[in-house]
Amino acid sequence: MKIGIDFGTSFSLPAAMINGNPATLLHSGQYGLPSVFYYDNSQGILIGIPAEDQGDRHPDNIVRNIKMEISNPNQKTYQLDGKTFDKKKIVGHIFREINQVALEGIEYQQLMSQEIDGAVVSVPAAFTLRELNFIRDAAQEEAGLKVLGFIREPVAAAIAYFNAPAGEDDKTILVYDLGGGTCDVAIVRSDKNSSEWYKVIDSEMLRIGGRDWDKLLGELIKRKCREQEPAIKFNARAENKILKAAIKAKHQLSRLERYESYVEVGGDDYDFEITRAEFEKITSELLQDTMRMVDKLKQNCSTKIDYIVLVGGSSNMPQVRKAFEKNYPGIEIKIFEPEKAIAFGAAIYAEHLTEESFLHDICKFSYGARYIQDFSRYKDYNRLRIYNIIYKGDELPTSGESNSSKVRDGLSSTYIAVYESECTDEVYMPEDGTYIGEIEIHGIEGSRKGDETLLTMTIDKSGLMKLEAIDKRTGKSSNVEIHLEGY
Ligand SMILES: Nc1ncnc2c1ncn2[C@@H]1O[C@H](COP(=O)(O)OP(=O)(O)OP(=O)(O)O)[C@@H](O)[C@H]1O
Ligand SMILES: [Mg+2]
Repeated sequence: MKIGIDFGTSFSLPAAMINGNPATLLHSGQYGLPSVFYYDNSQGILIGIPAEDQGDRHPDNIVRNIKMEISNPNQKTYQLDGKTFDKKKIVGHIFREINQVALEGIEYQQLMSQEIDGAVVSVPAAFTLRELNFIRDAAQEEAGLKVLGFIREPVAAAIAYFNAPAGEDDKTILVYDLGGGTCDVAIVRSDKNSSEWYKVIDSEMLRIGGRDWDKLLGELIKRKCREQEPAIKFNARAENKILKAAIKAKHQLSRLERYESYVEVGGDDYDFEITRAEFEKITSELLQDTMRMVDKLKQNCSTKIDYIVLVGGSSNMPQVRKAFEKNYPGIEIKIFEPEKAIAFGAAIYAEHLTEESFLHDICKFSYGARYIQDFSRYKDYNRLRIYNIIYKGDELPTSGESNSSKVRDGLSSTYIAVYESECTDEVYMPEDGTYIGEIEIHGIEGSRKGDETLLTMTIDKSGLMKLEAIDKRTGKSSNVEIHLEGY
């Protein structure tokens, strides 16, 4: 069977279609899997709740929020209890555990099909090509789980919303997904009777999520402790306790106006009290940043928005609904399966992957290339400009071609560097984009000035890239699925 996976910054969740409806694949009593990795020499690798538990005792051995570290070039490996772990391995272990949780769920629900053929994985709205490749490789190479495709998280949530019994067709919704690490927004239209059933009008993302609210609340709790004991010191264990206390307080403040508790630091207990108003005040900038993104998207959208749909665990905070009510008084707000909508949408999409008309999403970045005809001799290749081939906003799947001519006789190789950017100009300088990979043709004999190299670039429905380069005169070609290392 095909499954959908919401690989979240804080929680991951597998889901599948069961009797025509999406359902989470969990054993009874399970709520999703904390995306947490732990290692020590005596217990080995732990994932999820056992990892969280051990992390309380040995906070240096725990890795949280790894999804947000994928694109951090300064965090390639982790040292845990003297052992080095590659980032991709850690993500792979989490996927292996998600796969295991899904298999237990399949068994528990006594489903006919016992095998997992592959998964659609949801990703934030503007994850880069490198991040997508990284996740795919981690799941496939480290966990043996085939990634059938990707879907943008708010788009998945939109599909789940429309697919639910109460979801009406011929409507346009704005989905706001505030999770643990990112805030994702998408405007999606559903029209079953058109050639584009689900159409993404626009989407955007900020790397802001519940963990940023946790950080600010943790700092507030620390300030309150310091007021009681100015010389207080917070070591790794205390920091971990503060974080846990902050998360607990945050969750309670979604229900209560006022929260009282204590935290133990260095053998002493410190009482604290936090009001919801106080919490909302110290985090208002975060919320405002996300609301500005919503505003921009909404202003660029000429289609009338019928509903605002709030998903993601952090949308449980009353401040989110309040902000929407204040900013968009005329639009009805719905909270829809905050924890499950994305996994549901990924599971639904997994069943419709090959249907041309099912989902129409757009490319989040522009992709361009620069050619170096004679790499060994070219001194200042950083000054070579990038020519865009695929543009941000193009409908997926999409492909484009570009041609370059040899500048003199006898050049035996062509090297093409590929860039990703937000830039929609035809030409731009390399520093305005990100180098993402390369393709090379060598061993071209007897080449002459003016010989052409044709590059074909394709981005599939999942946002993944394929490249093909051909030396037109000799027919010599190179074919690569772009593989990105070095994150
Ligand atoms: N009742 C609640 N009140 C406030 N915050 C909550 C509540 N329930 C969950 N959260 C927060 O929601 C976040 C997790 O939400 P979710 O599972 O949607 O995120 P994720 O999918 O792991 O992250 P992302 O989508 O950003 O990668 C955590 O920060 C968690 O503390
Ligand atoms: Mg999420």
